[in-house]
Amino acid sequence: MGRDEVLKKFTPKMENVLQILHELQNRNPKHYIQKEDINAVAKYLNTTMAAIYGIVGYYTMFSSRPRGEHIIRLCTSPVCNMKGAKDILETLKDTLQVQPGGMTEDGEFSLEFTQCLGQCQHSPVMMVDTEIYGELTPEKTRETIRDIQEKET
Ligand code: FES
Repeated sequence: MGRDEVLKKFTPKMENVLQILHELQNRNPKHYIQKEDINAVAKYLNTTMAAIYGIVGYYTMFSSRPRGEHIIRLCTSPVCNMKGAKDILETLKDTLQVQPGGMTEDGEFSLEFTQCLGQCQHSPVMMVDTEIYGELTPEKTRETIRDIQEKET
């Protein structure tokens, strides 16, 4: 679906901005919102590009930079932190050779942080794309990544 088709699905009201941005981001194979999208949304909603950039920058679910095929979001809220999110972060960095906010060299994974995913009883927790993984240990984290990589081949 083209950019204009996405926009026309919504009435040009600011209350629709998050849904519009979601759809535009989802249609991009690199999971990000391009400058041209920002420009088109600003025009459609009769506002400024700065206002739309502000929204994209505020919500961690949006990105204005290309992202990997799979997006790993590690919860860094207090409960997960207390239950070992730091070890999981080190495991992800080691396994994938990627820094938070970055993308693996092959473009397969992006690593990001997120606030509480509402699964504190299973902490530490990460989300890969739309799937939640809990009770993570370094070993379980490596296995999860391996499973995703094997599904791809
Ligand atoms: S603190 Fe991590 S899921 Fe709630």
